[in-house]
Amino acid sequence: MPRKILVTNALPYANGDIHLGHLVGYIQADIWVRFQRMRGHSVHYVCADDTHGTPVMLRAEKEGLTPEQLIERVHGEHLRDFTAFGVAFDNYHSTHSTENRFYAEDIYGKLKTGGLIDTRSIEQYYDPVKEMFLPDRFIKGECPKCGAADQYGDNCEACGAAYAPTELKDPYSAVSGAKPVLKTSEHYFFRLSDERAVAFLREWTRGTNAAGERRLQAEAANKMKEWLGEEGENKLSDWDISRDAPYFGFEIPGAPGKYFYVWLDAPIGYLASFRNLADKRAAAGEAIVVEDYTDAVRAATAGTEMVHFIGKDILYFHALFWPAMLKFAGYATPSQLCVNGFLTVDGAKMSKSRGTFITAHSYIAQKLNPEWLRYYFAGKSNGTMEDVDLNLDDMIAKVNSDLVGKFVNIASRCAGFIGKRFDGRLGEFDATFELDYKLKWHSAFKTIVLAYEGRDYGRALREIMHLADIANQYVNDHKPWELAKQEGQEARLHAVCSTALTMFRDLTCYLKPVLPALAAQVESFLAIPAIRWQEQWAPLPTGHTIQPYSHLMTRVERKQIDALLEANRESLAPAAAPAAKEAKDAKAASSQQRHAEKQQHAAQSAETAAAHISIDDFTKVELRIARIVNAEHVDGADKLIRLQLDIGETDEAGAAKPRQVFAGIKSAYDPASLVGRLTVMVANLAPRKMKFGMSEGMVLAASDAEGQTAGLFLLSPDAGATPGMRVK
Ligand code: 2FM
Ligand code: ZN
Repeated sequence: MPRKILVTNALPYANGDIHLGHLVGYIQADIWVRFQRMRGHSVHYVCADDTHGTPVMLRAEKEGLTPEQLIERVHGEHLRDFTAFGVAFDNYHSTHSTENRFYAEDIYGKLKTGGLIDTRSIEQYYDPVKEMFLPDRFIKGECPKCGAADQYGDNCEACGAAYAPTELKDPYSAVSGAKPVLKTSEHYFFRLSDERAVAFLREWTRGTNAAGERRLQAEAANKMKEWLGEEGENKLSDWDISRDAPYFGFEIPGAPGKYFYVWLDAPIGYLASFRNLADKRAAAGEAIVVEDYTDAVRAATAGTEMVHFIGKDILYFHALFWPAMLKFAGYATPSQLCVNGFLTVDGAKMSKSRGTFITAHSYIAQKLNPEWLRYYFAGKSNGTMEDVDLNLDDMIAKVNSDLVGKFVNIASRCAGFIGKRFDGRLGEFDATFELDYKLKWHSAFKTIVLAYEGRDYGRALREIMHLADIANQYVNDHKPWELAKQEGQEARLHAVCSTALTMFRDLTCYLKPVLPALAAQVESFLAIPAIRWQEQWAPLPTGHTIQPYSHLMTRVERKQIDALLEANRESLAPAAAPAAKEAKDAKAASSQQRHAEKQQHAAQSAETAAAHISIDDFTKVELRIARIVNAEHVDGADKLIRLQLDIGETDEAGAAKPRQVFAGIKSAYDPASLVGRLTVMVANLAPRKMKFGMSEGMVLAASDAEGQTAGLFLLSPDAGATPGMRVK
C-alpha cells in the first residue's frame, strides 16, 4: 500500500544565513523523502521561512529595511542555498502569509472555544526609550551570581547560572542601552497544564507510524517522560502565546495591540506551506486534498501521515505545544518526529574565528561539490539524536575512497571498452556470476531498505559500499584491461564490462536518495530512465546503447577545504570601542558575530590590564584532582550538568562524601561520558547556593577567548594521579 506522507523540515529564522549546522537535518529529511518516493510512496515535502518575532524586526531596522523587505530577501537566499544542496522541497513558503494567518487564527479560535486560552497579567522589563517589552535575550547586565559583566537576561555564559532577567544587576536594554523598567501587561496563555492536554500527550508519546516505527526516538521519548512526569503527576506549565506591540507578527483577533508569539505561528507554517502548495498545484490541474492531512477525522480515514524533521533544541515545542495545539483544535497530530543532534566540526562547536562556522553559500561559492557533504552527513546519520561531527580530514578520506575510489571507479574501468570495442552496446550479463550476484544483492537489499526507513543512513551506506567492494573485486578478478589484449576474449570482455555496469546501475539506485545529482549523471551516461527502487533481477538489456563515459566525480583536495575555512574565518580583533559607542552598538545584540567580538574585546583588555600575582596569591587556590563519580542533567537548566566529585573526602562514618558541583558544560559533554573520569577542581571556593542546589566548588575547563565558540575542554591529569591530590 503506498503511504501518503506530508514531510516537513524545521523552518529557519528569516534573519540569518543557512550554515552547515542547519544542513544536517535538511539533508536527512531530503534523503528520506527521496527514498520514500523511489519506493513508490506519495510524499509532499514542505518548508518555509520563520519570519516573525523581535529579532527579525530589529534586524530589519538595523539594515534600514522593513521586515517585509528583509524576509523577502532572506527567503530568496535560503531557497537558493537549499536548492544548491539538493534539498528539494515541493514548496518553500513563509509564515508571513495569508495561509498562515488563516490557520493561526483558526487554531487559536478553536482552542479558545475549547476553554484552553487564559489571560493573565505579567510583569516584564520594558525599554522606555524604544517603547517595547524586552525579550530576555535583549536585556543584559551583571550576572547576579558571579558578577560577570554583559550577561544575557536568562543565563550567565561565565558561570552557567540561570536566573530571571529581574535578578540581573545594573540591567540595560541591548536594543537602546536604556535602563529597563518593570511594566505590567496582559498576556494570553495556552493552557498546556490542562489535564486533557497532559493525558493526550502521554498517549501521543507512545504511538507508532504507518511503518511501525515509533513516533519518537528513544531519547525523545525519555525527554517526554521527564517533562510529563509520572502518571498522575502534572509538571507542565501554561504557555505564554502573546507579545505586545511593537511586534512583527499577526495581531490576535479581538485583542488589539497583542500579537501571536513567533513560536505559536511557526509550526503552523507547515500547514500554511502545504496549503499554498495545494493551491499552486490546483492551478496546474493537480488535486491535493489538504484536509486529508490536516483534519483529524479525515486523516485517520485517509491513513495519511505527517512527519516532522527537527533539531533537538526545538523538541520541546514540537513534542508538547504543537501536538496539543493541533489536537484540541481538531487537527491531525504529527505521526512522527525525526530529531537530529547538533553539528560539531573537528570535534568542537562551530567557530567563526576558526572558520568552521561555514555558511551553505560559501561552500557553494568555493565550488565544493554539495554531494560530498550529503554523502558525508548521510554516513554520519544513524537515526538517533546524537550530535554529528564533521571531521574534515575524514570527509576528504571518505569521499575520495568510497565515492571516487570505489563507486565511480567501477564505471571508469569498464565503460571505455564498451564504447571503443562494442560501439557503446552492452553485452550479456556474465552467467557464471549470476547466482553469486543474486545472493549477495538480495541479502543486502533488505538491510538497505530498513536502514533508510529508520534513517540509519550510515548503516545503509556501509552495506552499499560492501556491494561496491564486491563489484570492484569482480572487475579485479576478471581484469578487462587484460582481456582486451587477448585474442578471442571479445565475448568475455563484453560480458564482464556489461556485468560491472549493471552492478554500477544497482549501486546508483541505492545511492540515489543521497546523491541525486550524481545519479542523474549516471542515468544519462547509461541512457536509462530515472532509476526506481529495484527489487527484481533485471540486468541492463543486451544490445542497449550507452553514452560515452565522461568523468563523474572529482576528488576532494585538502586545499579546497582550507580555502573554505579561510573564506569563513572572521577576524575577531575589533577596534577599541569607547564606552558610549558600546551602548549604541549593543543594538546589534541579535548578531552572534557582535557578541563574539565583545567577548574577545573583553578578554583582550583583561589580558593587558591584568597585573602579575604572587605565588602566595596562586597557592590560595586549592586545586585538587577529582573523580567524577556521577554526572546528570539538571531539570530546567540549559547549560548545567550536576557533578558529584570524589576528592578523597569522607563523612564521620568513613563513607566517601563526594562534592556536588554545577558545571556549565552541558553544551560540550554528555553526562554519561563523564562518569569515571578524572579532572581538576577548585576545592576551596566558597559554597554557593544556586537555583538547583548547593555548588561546592568548580571544575576547570579550557575554552577560547570567545567564550565557548570553539568548544569546552575539561582538564584531565596524566595517568597516575588519584582523587584528592593537590595540583600546584
Ligand atoms: O529554531 C528555529 O530555528 C525555529 N525557527 C524553528 C521553527 S520550526 C517550526 F516550528 F516552525
Ligand atoms: Zn555568572
